[in-house]
Amino acid sequence: MEKIKRTAIVDLLKSSDYGKNVCVKGWVRTKRGNKNVIFIAVNDGSTIKNIQIVADATKFDENLLKQITTGSSVCIFGVLVESQGSGQTVEIHASTIEIYGTADETYPLQKKGHSMEFLREIAHLRPRTNTFGAVFRIRHNMAFAIHKFFHERGFFYFHTPIITASDCEGAGQMFQVTTLDLKNIKKSANGEVDFSEDFYGKPANLTVSGQLEGELAATALGLIYTFGPIFRAENSNTLRHLSELWMIEPEMAFYEIDDNMQLAEDFIKYCIRWALDNCSDDIKFLCDMFDKELIDRLNFVIANDFVRLKYSEGIKILEDAVANGHKFEFPVYWGTDLAAEHERFLVEQYFKNPVILTDYPKEIKSFYMKQNDDGKTVRAMDVLFPKIGEIIGGSQREENLEKLKKRAAEMNVPDKDIWWYMDTRRYGTVPHSGFGLGFDRLILFVTGMANIRDVIPFPRTPKNAEF
Ligand code: 4AD
Ligand code: MG
Repeated sequence: MEKIKRTAIVDLLKSSDYGKNVCVKGWVRTKRGNKNVIFIAVNDGSTIKNIQIVADATKFDENLLKQITTGSSVCIFGVLVESQGSGQTVEIHASTIEIYGTADETYPLQKKGHSMEFLREIAHLRPRTNTFGAVFRIRHNMAFAIHKFFHERGFFYFHTPIITASDCEGAGQMFQVTTLDLKNIKKSANGEVDFSEDFYGKPANLTVSGQLEGELAATALGLIYTFGPIFRAENSNTLRHLSELWMIEPEMAFYEIDDNMQLAEDFIKYCIRWALDNCSDDIKFLCDMFDKELIDRLNFVIANDFVRLKYSEGIKILEDAVANGHKFEFPVYWGTDLAAEHERFLVEQYFKNPVILTDYPKEIKSFYMKQNDDGKTVRAMDVLFPKIGEIIGGSQREENLEKLKKRAAEMNVPDKDIWWYMDTRRYGTVPHSGFGLGFDRLILFVTGMANIRDVIPFPRTPKNAEF
């Protein structure tokens, strides 16, 4: 028989070529049957759905059939047949079955219904579950939608470095990168580490953001975006923080804060619409399993305008809530950085809508944000989402060299680290804006998963870097 090429299950399930000889390869999810007939559910990762294989038990070697267990991998040739049973449209009547690899009773995914905590301990195998298959297919689709969105609008994908010497956000939460022998560090007479011996001849870190280099690109190419991993050594063990995460950072020459807000809103809505249109089986599964309101929530966000609100107005609403008896863990006053509980009150209880909060006190924001005329606030914007809190952080940038220099000095950003950044303001400076979307938080929102550790294949969090 001429060798038939493998067809992905996602395509087989759409096919109506009944009577055709086909080949399917994948992993066995379940096997049931009796001494006459065996039903095997096979999944190959191309879709959440399994294909049913029907085998005449009398025609196959008993030993072979025994080896078809949950988790084993198989190659099956057979005929595509319109299914009699409910729940599937087609099935395959097997003519040959080959086992690639067996899986014995120690395979950890025998039964359904494992806890998320347990599955995190076996993160090397969890992509084989329905849930994580769905999450990672959606994750891929979101990455694709992001590139498509920006490409269609004339943005260029720009690769910013992962190793850097500057602390963009100024929060000092950086992982150091070194080839120095930590057991044998050379120090000068006054106790300082001699970095001239280090790989770069000076201290280097993993980047917390590609923004500063992104601004260099935007002031040349006009519209750019970055999309890559960034690293933050903040010791936050929450449902929404990773120490290695993926961030998308568009940066746009000639955009002011209103243009920036509009782009952020269009961008998120585009991604969510893409997920609903292209990942419907996976989203429906997650909705049924974990979060009955997921699809309604996604549709709601697309259908409604985001609320636009100044920080000062937001504080006023929160203060009124406190005056009316609402209890927050953290105090509310003008000048404070909003806690997740404050953000979620505004979004989930007060407006019941995503909120773009702008014009924050300059003390709680980075040195590069455009200063307002009031001398107190900067043209920052945070996009706050139901269930997530902050999903985007961004701003219009300060384009005036003198103002920027002054603010950098006040915030102790050393000129030797950012002299090159300052050159964008020295030579042909322009108004410009940008923002950063936390990719993993977007996936959290789109999948309805509860913990950010469950939307990235191998999460990195404090005291956890397994796999
Ligand atoms: O608000 P952030 O810190 O903004 C910046 O880094 C700017 N340089 C972005 C820019 O203007 N180009 O981070 C942006 C987003 C946050 O809103 C959040 O969604 C996500 O990145 N984020 C994290 N996600 C998961 N774990 C963490 N530890 C995160 N820190 C930030
Ligand atoms: Mg932020």
